[in-house]
Amino acid sequence: MTQTIQSLPTGRERYFDPFDPALHADPYSRYALARESAPLCQGPHGLTVVTRHRDVSAALRDTRLGHGPTTAPNRIFSFLGLDPPEHGPLRRVAAQFFGPRTISALAPRISGFVDDLLDTALQKRHVDLLGEFAYPLSLRVICSLFDLPEQDQPWIRAQTPPIGRLLDPPYSISGPDLAAARQAAAVFVAYLREQITHRRRHPGPDLLSQLISHADSGPTLTPRGLIPMCALLLMAGYETTANIIANGALALLRHPAQLEAARARTTDGLLDPAAMDELLRYDSPIQITFRTVQQETAVAGTALSPGTPVALLIGSANRDPRAFARPERLDLRRAPNPHLSFGAGIHFCLGAPLARLEAGLALGHLLARTRHLELAGDPSHKDITAAVRGLNDLPVALTPR
Ligand code: HEM
Repeated sequence: MTQTIQSLPTGRERYFDPFDPALHADPYSRYALARESAPLCQGPHGLTVVTRHRDVSAALRDTRLGHGPTTAPNRIFSFLGLDPPEHGPLRRVAAQFFGPRTISALAPRISGFVDDLLDTALQKRHVDLLGEFAYPLSLRVICSLFDLPEQDQPWIRAQTPPIGRLLDPPYSISGPDLAAARQAAAVFVAYLREQITHRRRHPGPDLLSQLISHADSGPTLTPRGLIPMCALLLMAGYETTANIIANGALALLRHPAQLEAARARTTDGLLDPAAMDELLRYDSPIQITFRTVQQETAVAGTALSPGTPVALLIGSANRDPRAFARPERLDLRRAPNPHLSFGAGIHFCLGAPLARLEAGLALGHLLARTRHLELAGDPSHKDITAAVRGLNDLPVALTPR
């Protein structure tokens, strides 16, 4: 039996604001309150907020929940914001470059970057593991796939916070923030246009050249669609990966016994994939994703009508005791581990094999090459977007093996 939400629930516990910047300091206890009081909460902007694993998982797979006519700001993120039938063909163009076999061939190159950054870090003994290891690594990897100039990496990183703001739905962004985000997106588009013009004249074996040749021969990817495609792959490809390296390292640093267990579960500089999954579940770099109801559907047994905006709390689903025994516990042996950190359904993360490999090598090499690792400060969380969970910095002291 389904029922329509007639009006805002009155109890405070059934209201949940996913855009509250204060949420970033301690999201998990706030999720628990919401999740245990109700499967659906009401949020600002008429949002229906979905809190439990079963419902978030089903909603991610339900194509009646989509994006609708792509709104101006997120057009920069290509097929991430598209529904069927436009979504599939464009995703398939990108998918051929991110399959497990193509990605595993990158392991030696990624290990080289990791070792290089660790050589410097180990000499210094005190580093910001986010700013001096996780970010430079994930930028190097994605820029080397695109063959973008190495000296552009700091600039690309600086553009990300305002552009990343566009991952949140436009109704949640205030006028000046939206203007700043659009301005940053326009500057980034101009940069990509320049790179594309240059690469057309000097093609190589890189991903950008291959995307250009797809766009020039059509029909799915067009020259106009090339820029959003590149913007999506670049931005999605490094910010989240940097954050899982740092979020994962922080989780281990705060659980020394698990840190030692992770060390024991590292082979040839690669952290065991099941341990990586638990770090992804425990503190996912993407906490929330948004949809709009396209055709009437039911979520958690409640009918939702077209036009209803919906927030799916991935971070809450990952800590739902209905799906995970003792979810607050970091347990690198957890199995099964049906976390939703890469989403599910048609938008399931295209970069999951790359993210797993890169973060697994980053953390694996870090553990293999250190004798001792400890927190050297109290890191704080960014509060720029509702969707992204990441640190401002991660000060650590490390002793080489
Ligand atoms: C740990 C790192 C990562 C996490 C946690 C993550 C998470 C996610 C999530 C949750 C989604 C689904 C969004 C939704 O349903 O609204 C997604 C989609 C996507 N991700 Fe990732 N991602 C990561 C790394 C990467 C990397 C390295 C790439 C590579 C370029 C990438 C490319 C994409 C793309 C292209 C999509 C859109 C897929 C589609 O719409 O069909 N991601 N990611």
